[in-house]
Amino acid sequence: MRTELVSPLLAMPLFWLCLYNNLVSVSGQCLEDQRSLLLQLKNNLTFTSSTKLKSWNPSNDCCSWIGISCDKEGHVTALDLSEESGTGALGNSSSLFSLQHLQTLNLAYNNFTSFIPSAFKRLEILTSLNLSCAGFLGQIPIEISQMTRLVTLDLSSTWFLPCEWNNELKLENPNLRKLVQNLTSIRQLYLDGVSISAPGHEWSSALMSLHDLQEVRMSQCNLSGPLDPSLASLENLSVIVLDENGLSSAVPETFADFKFLTFLSLSRCQLTGTFPQKIFNMVTLVVVDVSWNHDLQGFFPDFPPGSLHTLIVSGTKFSGAFPRSIGNMRNLSDLEFSYCEFNGTIPNSLSNLTELRYLSLSDNNFTGQIPSFNMAKSLIYLDLSYNGLSGSIPFSHFEGLNNLVTIYLDHNSISGILPSSLFTLPQLEDINLSNNQFGQLDEFTNVSSSQLYSLDLRSNNLKFAFCNLKTFPGFLSNHSNIEFLDLSDNYIHGIVPNWIWKLENLWVLNISHNMLTHLEGPLQNLSTRFSYLDLHHNKLEGPMIPSFPENLKYLDFSSNKLNSVIPRNIGNYLTFTSFISLSNNAFSGSIPDSFCNVSHLDVLDLSNNNIDGKIPLCLLEASTEILNLRQNSLMGPLPDIFSATCTLEILDLRDNKLDGKIPKSLSNCTWLEILNLGENKIVNVFPCMLMKISTLRVLVLRENNLDGHIGCPNTNATWPVLQILDLAINHFSGKLPQTLFKRWEAMMSAKSNVEN
Ligand SMILES: *[C@@H]1O[C@H](CO)[C@@H](O)[C@H](O)[C@H]1NC(C)=O
Ligand SMILES: *[C@@H]1O[C@H](CO)[C@@H](O)[C@H](O)[C@H]1NC(C)=O
Ligand SMILES: *[C@@H]1O[C@H](CO)[C@@H](O)[C@H](O)[C@H]1NC(C)=O
Ligand SMILES: *[C@@H]1O[C@H](CO)[C@@H](O)[C@H](O)[C@H]1NC(C)=O
Ligand SMILES: *[C@@H]1O[C@H](CO)[C@@H](O)[C@H](O)[C@H]1NC(C)=O
Ligand SMILES: *[C@@H]1O[C@H](CO)[C@@H](O)[C@H](O)[C@H]1NC(C)=O
Ligand SMILES: *[C@@H]1O[C@H](CO)[C@@H](O)[C@H](O)[C@H]1NC(C)=O
Ligand SMILES: *[C@@H]1O[C@H](CO)[C@@H](O)[C@H](O)[C@H]1NC(C)=O
Ligand SMILES: *[C@@H]1O[C@H](CO)[C@@H](O)[C@H](O)[C@H]1NC(C)=O
Ligand SMILES: *[C@@H]1O[C@H](CO)[C@@H](O)[C@H](O)[C@H]1NC(C)=O
Ligand SMILES: *[C@@H]1O[C@H](CO)[C@@H](O)[C@H](O)[C@H]1NC(C)=O
Ligand SMILES: *[C@@H]1O[C@H](CO)[C@@H](O)[C@H](O)[C@H]1NC(C)=O
Repeated sequence: MRTELVSPLLAMPLFWLCLYNNLVSVSGQCLEDQRSLLLQLKNNLTFTSSTKLKSWNPSNDCCSWIGISCDKEGHVTALDLSEESGTGALGNSSSLFSLQHLQTLNLAYNNFTSFIPSAFKRLEILTSLNLSCAGFLGQIPIEISQMTRLVTLDLSSTWFLPCEWNNELKLENPNLRKLVQNLTSIRQLYLDGVSISAPGHEWSSALMSLHDLQEVRMSQCNLSGPLDPSLASLENLSVIVLDENGLSSAVPETFADFKFLTFLSLSRCQLTGTFPQKIFNMVTLVVVDVSWNHDLQGFFPDFPPGSLHTLIVSGTKFSGAFPRSIGNMRNLSDLEFSYCEFNGTIPNSLSNLTELRYLSLSDNNFTGQIPSFNMAKSLIYLDLSYNGLSGSIPFSHFEGLNNLVTIYLDHNSISGILPSSLFTLPQLEDINLSNNQFGQLDEFTNVSSSQLYSLDLRSNNLKFAFCNLKTFPGFLSNHSNIEFLDLSDNYIHGIVPNWIWKLENLWVLNISHNMLTHLEGPLQNLSTRFSYLDLHHNKLEGPMIPSFPENLKYLDFSSNKLNSVIPRNIGNYLTFTSFISLSNNAFSGSIPDSFCNVSHLDVLDLSNNNIDGKIPLCLLEASTEILNLRQNSLMGPLPDIFSATCTLEILDLRDNKLDGKIPKSLSNCTWLEILNLGENKIVNVFPCMLMKISTLRVLVLRENNLDGHIGCPNTNATWPVLQILDLAINHFSGKLPQTLFKRWEAMMSAKSNVEN
């Protein structure tokens, strides 16, 4: 239940926009020509889910319409039709381009599906043009480069914004240099997702002519490297976002010279070298994301007090210690270091970061104890999994984390008492404490209603004291949202109480590898979502409960001590089950015909029981892939009814009392990889018809009554992947045919990991 954390997109400060647009707040009465231009615009396009346009009532002053601002003479100066689902071609002749007083135009998030009209250049005094995710496609026209008053230009469109179109715009001719050459007033240039495809020196020098540039966003532009050290001459640059470009370059030391840099994002850029430590000392920095640059090395310096809010280096070769001084970054909210090479302890100073919301340190080599997080009241996500953390967790560590949704501490060596305080956190949905050494759960009664849907306590040393039912972690009975519960591989004794079947949202229950002895029924109250029940490797004894939830997909009762007959109607309950294993028990009686009513049965394993009688015909006709009936007392001949649609991959009937012949129709099973008929009483000659099965890897016929010659003189067919052929202890006679053995090439290769 591990998910890669997607860092929340941070809302960008927009105060620059406000500073430079000089929007006049006193607006006059709308002029008649302006009104009619706007109404034409409205009529000529289709706006499917419009909200703003609804207010465009012809009888009102058009300057009061939503999305419109006017100057005091009544000219429209700003038009915002973003997120109106506008469709239709916006052509050169659109009335939009007659709104000559427009300074700000926002058409973001629409559906225009056309080229960008060159008529935009008629909007001569426009300072802000936003066509982000507007559905425009193709080459960006040269006329945009003539809009020299532009301060803000947003042509971004890419999936992460998110918009419907991806990389539909391109800058070939004109290229980036030509486009921006005369846009010397530009402060915000957003081109995410525009196909620019330029080498490092080219796009860098194009940007360097823009002296006022403050924000550049060019993610997913197919830019190449290197990152040019002289970019630092753009001294007003405060936002640099170049994610997902194949830069294959080191980050220049000069990047630490930016005076106003707040936002640096270079995720998935194939960065190399060592990230300049000095950059972490820049007091202006708010966001640094250099994640998923697998070859990027780096070390943290001693952090000075700073304004850092987000620090993401996951998926890099950052290594060394995690400095105590992180506690100086009091604004830190999002800290992600997963999949790096850090070691040493997690500093206690983290406890001083009261603003923390996302903390992800998984897959490193951190050791020592877990610090307390009870000061970080905003914490939502905590992932410390896959480290070498040890010690116990004091009860108070997670107290009062009323926003915590996810906690992963799995795959460490944490021991002691499992802090039940966790289970009272009101927003908690997903807990994974598996693969640790928790020995005990402190018992707990006062459980508030919780969102918990996933609890994974697999592979601990948990012992629940089982004097009464309430102690099969009884507090869970109040967690009706639980969907996923994994308590496998612990030391739980005693009874599985029936309240567990009443958890109305449960769909995965794994309590395998414990020491449970009884199930308390009935099972029929289970939710219709319940689909996975794994009880294998326990000490369940006595008869099997003859009822099951109706939508079960996976049922594993193997390796227990169940000793009844298999309930006759079992298959009527398990109509949709694809995996059933009852192996390694002491079931007796015959195989119920009702298994044939299971419509999607892929795997049926009844091996190693005391089952007798004949194999139901319908079971051999069913579309199972794996049928394992090994080590029982099944009798009679194997019926000759395998049809051309046979889907069997493994058929294991070893160690039964089958007699008769090997059915000819088995040659219809052309997917068969393993056929084990050993230790039966089959009478036959060498089964040449099986030569038709080219997928066969293992064929075991040992200890039967086969006779005659080995080999098939009348066929050129071969078993090209056969690795094991066991014919021992039969009555074969004559010579071994050389030609046959020469053709079994797979058997000659050294590796054979197949169990016979
Ligand atoms: C827009 O609609 C008007 C009528 O409302 C029509 O005269 C004009 O040709 C249309 N313009 C375009 C570009 O479709
Ligand atoms: C955008 O337009 C395309 C084609 O005209 C259409 O398939 C799609 O559903 C539209 N999307 C929205 C959000 O209107
Ligand atoms: C707009 O007019 C220009 C010529 O001025 C032409 O090249 C272009 O194709 C036209 N664009 C559209 C979308 O009609
Ligand atoms: C463009 O408009 C969209 C939608 O309103 C907005 O999210 C985005 O920040 C705008 N771009 C700029 C540069 O302001
Ligand atoms: C930029 O402006 C110069 C001088 O006005 C002009 O010669 C040149 O053609 C313009 N370039 C573009 C790409 O518009
Ligand atoms: C990316 O740029 C390279 C050259 O820099 C070019 O060969 C390649 O076709 C571009 N890829 C795309 C998808 O535009
Ligand atoms: C940076 O911005 C300031 C204030 O807007 C301006 O005076 C200065 O010239 C800019 N720097 C450069 C290198 O253009
Ligand atoms: C963690 O430490 C162990 C032993 O010191 C070492 O073998 C392993 O490579 C380290 N893992 C990482 C990701 O650094
Ligand atoms: C961390 O790893 C480095 C390099 O592998 C090693 O020299 C150092 O001793 C390790 N530190 C700790 C505390 O394990
Ligand atoms: C937390 O901050 C306080 C005040 O700056 C400091 O005295 C204390 O040592 C810090 N705690 C930790 C665990 O670093
Ligand atoms: C294979 O299946 C077909 C159709 O079910 C059947 O007619 C045929 O006899 C089978 N082949 C053999 C060799 O029995
Ligand atoms: C086996 O192959 C040989 C030579 O390719 C051919 O003459 C012969 O007819 C084949 N035998 C059968 C049974 O297909």
